[in-house]
This record gives sequence, structure tokens and C-alpha cells, in this order.
Amino acid sequence: MKFLHVVGARPNFMKAAPVYRALAGRGQEQVLVHTGQHYDALMSEVFFKTLEIPNPDESLNVGSASHAQQTAAIMSSFEPVVLARRPDVVLVYGDVNSTVAAALVCAKLGIRVAHVEAGLRSFDRTMPEEINRLVTDQLSDILFTPSVDGNENLAREGIQKEKVFLVGNVMIDTLIRFLPMADEMYAKLQSELAMDSFGLVTLHRPSNVDDEAVFLPMLGLLDELSREMPLIFPVHPRTRQKWAAQLELCNPNLRTIEPLGYLEFLALQKNARVVITDSGGIQEETTYLGTPCLTLRENTERPITVTLGTNVLIGRDWGLLRKHFREALNGGRKRAGCIPLWDGNTSERIAEILGR
Ligand code: UD1
Repeated sequence: MKFLHVVGARPNFMKAAPVYRALAGRGQEQVLVHTGQHYDALMSEVFFKTLEIPNPDESLNVGSASHAQQTAAIMSSFEPVVLARRPDVVLVYGDVNSTVAAALVCAKLGIRVAHVEAGLRSFDRTMPEEINRLVTDQLSDILFTPSVDGNENLAREGIQKEKVFLVGNVMIDTLIRFLPMADEMYAKLQSELAMDSFGLVTLHRPSNVDDEAVFLPMLGLLDELSREMPLIFPVHPRTRQKWAAQLELCNPNLRTIEPLGYLEFLALQKNARVVITDSGGIQEETTYLGTPCLTLRENTERPITVTLGTNVLIGRDWGLLRKHFREALNGGRKRAGCIPLWDGNTSERIAEILGR
């Protein structure tokens, strides 16, 4: 059988890497397509190297644009590639524009689509990723869910249960594999950063960073909190482009730096006293690592990280953020339970099912 993987944006890379590896271990023929949704070296290339993903067989180089233009550009350049390569199954990952664009092309061509990380729902359709999730799942032939809430959501949307497989979280496969290397590099990183106790921040969602009335108070609060404990803030290009001048003005305890590589970021997540974020994947990684996670969103498509994990939804309640931040500073920790099937073997389960 021939499998074609589609990746495009940073969070796809750590999901595709273990699945590619597991299929390679079974001698399956594979093709890797990079749409180029993310194109900066720090957003893309470094992940290929670290995660030992082979160079893409095809690069579509679509770059940035509006949602419609980006999705359309991926579709029109992906169609000839998939027609020429003739895969039996196309694997798409997560909820980015590259995911939905590839799924739509394949569905129209009658090529089977497998969605890795299916079924997650925030129930917030103002979020571009929620639209991508809903559409991709409707178009997919094989749906791999990370947790049981995903199966419930898909059943409610009328997706036949024969198509759905609860396999666990592939991103945790990558985390487990690379954690020893992240641990090894932590000492060097810590001496470079010269700080023992710190928090870690990431922010890039349009709902948080696009609007001045939302972002500037948030930045002001981070500036305030960083005076109690230094905060390291690797800045996503979309946030940097919009707010370079304002970020410059923050006090030096709010350390704004370039996006980090996978191992560096993992090492910091593990050793941070607290993580403040609006990312989806980071809610999962902090849960696995047992690091407190304060999520600056009103909702999450990953509710299991709240019920079983270390995640707390803060929304825009700054009083709540201060409270949980101080709790974390004083060593308070929400205990993380063990999430079923987040065990490092998800990609093997996926490869086994695909090989049937
Ligand atoms: C995308 C995903 C989001 C994911 C995030 C992780 C969608 C709808 N969103 O958001 O789910 O959490 O990736 O990073 O697919 N840019 C660069 N260099 C790059 C990439 C982007 O400078 O390599 C800038 C561009 O100005 C671009 C902006 O960042 O317009 C946003 O990039 P885009 O890919 O549209 O969405 P993300 O915000 O990265």
C-alpha cells in the first residue's frame, strides 16, 4: 500500500513524524508532501531535522495569505501531486488549513483520507481550526481519535462508528521519544538563560493577538506577572509581526525570544513552574509532563486536559490568572492523572490499523 502524508504547519510535524516512522518500520511505501504553510526555518526546517523526518518528496511552497487564498492555493497545487502520486490513503494531521485543503481535494477525487487527531471540538465556530476540524472529519474515511470525547463528538455528528478508531495521542509518542534528549540539553539551556525558576508563555491565536483591545492588556498583565517570576516568551511570527514595538517595551523579566526548536521548548515546558498559552498541543504536553498550564482561551477542544490533566481555562479573567500564577509560583500543582492510550504507542496502533 502507498501512503501520502500532508504536513504544512508547525504542529503537524510532531504528529506526522512517529506515524511516518511506524509505517516505515512495516516497510510501507510513503510520500511526504509539505504545503509550505509554515516556511520560516524556525517554524519548519528545524523540526524536520530534530524529529528525523525525511525531506519532503514534494514542496508546494504556498506561504501565507488569507484563509481562503491559502486554502485554495494548497488545493490547487496539491491536486496534481496527488493525481501523479496515486496513493491508496492520504494522511492528514490536526486542524490547520493544510489539513482541510488536502482532505477536500482527496474527497473529490475519491482517494481515501485518514485524519489523525479526529473528533476534537471546541464548539466555537469563530475559531478557524474548528471549521477545519468539522469539515475534515466529515470528509475522512478513517478517523483516529486521541481521547474518548473525540469518539462521542463524532458519533453526535453522525459519523459511522466503523470508521473511527480510538488510538491515543501521537504527539505524546514524539514527546516520549525525545524527552531524554530534551533533558540532556536542559543544563546548557538553563545556563544560557541564567534563571532557575521561570514561567513559559506562548500566544498566537487570532482571537488573542489580532486585536489591540485584547492583546495589549494581556501583554500588560504578563509584564506585571514577570516581575514576580521571570517569563520566557518565544514569540510566534504572527505575534511578532503585529506587536514588535510593544514587545520591545516590556520589562527585561519578560524575555521575548525567537521561536524555539522542539527539544528546547520541550525542556522548558518540563522545567517551567507554569505555562501560560493559547496553543492546543501545549495543553496536552503540559498535562503529560505534569506542568501547570493556564490557557488564555474561553474553551478548549481538548477537555480531557482539564478533567484529567493540569490545564485550567482562564479565558480573560485576569484575577483568575493572577491566582493560579501565584499558586504555581508557590509550588501548587494541579495533579495530572494518566490519560488512557497516551502511552507512546499510538503511531504503532495507527500503522497496524492502516495495514489491515
Ligand atoms: C497555524 C494554524 C494554527 C496553529 C499554528 C501553529 C491554521 C488556520 N492555523 O496558525 O492552528 O496553532 O499554525 O503555529 O492553519 N508566518 C511567518 N512565517 C511562517 C508562518 C507564518 O512569518 O513560517 C506569519 C505570516 O505572516 C502569517 C502568519 O504568521 O500570515 C500566520 O500564519 P498562518 O499559517 O496563516 O497561521 P498561524 O497563526 O501560524
